[in-house]
Order: sequence, then structure tokens, then C-alpha cells
Amino acid sequence: MVLDMLAGWSAARINQFLERRRETAFQKVDRWERRVIEGWIHTIPHRAVLDAPCGNGRLFNSFPHTVEHLIGVDADFGFCAQARRLAETLGLESEIICGLLPDLGLPTVDVAVCVRFWCHLPGWVADRLLARLLMCATSIILQFNEDDGTDEAVALSVSPDCRLDTTRRIAEVASSMNAEIVRVARHQSSTSRFVLLRKG
Ligand SMILES: C[S@@+](CC[C@H](N)C(=O)[O-])C[C@H]1O[C@@H](n2cnc3c(N)ncnc32)[C@H](O)[C@@H]1O
Repeated sequence: MVLDMLAGWSAARINQFLERRRETAFQKVDRWERRVIEGWIHTIPHRAVLDAPCGNGRLFNSFPHTVEHLIGVDADFGFCAQARRLAETLGLESEIICGLLPDLGLPTVDVAVCVRFWCHLPGWVADRLLARLLMCATSIILQFNEDDGTDEAVALSVSPDCRLDTTRRIAEVASSMNAEIVRVARHQSSTSRFVLLRKG
């Protein structure tokens, strides 16, 4: 039935259809993620927010209307274009920068949000990104999975009991930058975690 429907469409319409599907698929924010982000962001100064990486702006709807300036960073041009459109639709004053983390120079903000990215990074890149974020933001809302970074221990043939504890590792990097974890949220049925980091 879907094929019959598509047969009558021009390539342009099919592309438009697929693009819209892609946008809505990436637009979904899990209820738990939304609750944590919305709940925490209200408790900290949040006039200028950095969403890094922002993808297509999936989280923009979770940011309060009191955000005055939103900066999104992503490596993907297509996602940046979608994020820009979404920010406009939501009436957010925004700057969407296409570039590579962690080396990109980042502007000073009140809070940086980093979600669904740690799992893609080798531990040492994650450490570097955290240090970068701590240089530009007073608070950081960071999501990761408790088992992120363990691949390194395996690759280096470190014994299994030396599995890296991601929360501890984040706390250590933070402490070396005069920051600390002030809140933790653990997902009930997965290894996903959120931490709120604050600079001293
Ligand atoms: C799983 S998405 C998460 C996006 C967003 N944080 C969210 O929760 O919807 C990961 C994003 O990281 C971006 N990305 C991957 N490597 C990157 C890099 N080195 N610098 C900046 N963005 C990167 C991808 O383009 C993708 O949009």
C-alpha cells in the first residue's frame, strides 16, 4: 500500500516525505530525559544555553522559554539546518554552529547540555570534551551510559575488574577543573545516567 502511494509521487515529493519522517523520528524526546532536563535547568541560571551536539534540535522543546540565547553545535550540516529551522519556529534566539567537538572554540554560556553523545566517544575524547565544556559553562547537564568508555579497558587488555566507572571518571575530570557533580539521575531500567556538574 505504501509502495502504491509512493508510485504516484514525484522524486521531489518522496524526498520531502522522507525528510519529514527523518525530522519527526529524531524529534522524539524520551519522557525521562525531558523530565530530568526540564527539572534541572530551572534550578540553575540558564539565560545562555549551549546544546552540544544539538543534532536536529531534538531537545530544543525541553528548554524553558526563559532561555534568552541558545547555541547549538553539530558536525552534520543537514542536522544544523533542521535545528536552525526548529529554533526559528520556536521563536528562540539562536546560533547554530556546524563544527567538530571537542576542538571547536565554544562561547561562554550559563549551562551546557550534552545528551546521547558520550557513548560515541573514546574515553580520552570524552575527557577532553568535558574539560572544554567546563571551560565555557558554569553548569553542565551531561547524559552518558554507565558502561561508556569500558571498550578502552578491553582494548588495552586491562583485567575485567578494571572496568572504567564512567561516573567516577567524570567526577575526576571535573575535580581537576574545580567542578563537581551536584546531582545524579539514574534510569530505572537502563545504564543511562544524567549528572549535573557545577563549577566551584
Ligand atoms: C545521537 S545524536 C544526539 C544529538 C542531540 N544531543 C540529541 O540528544 O538529540 C549525536 C549527534 O552528534 C553529532 N556528532 C557526531 N560527532 C560529532 C563531533 N565530533 N562534533 C560535533 N557533533 C558530532 C552527530 O551529527 C549527531 O547529530
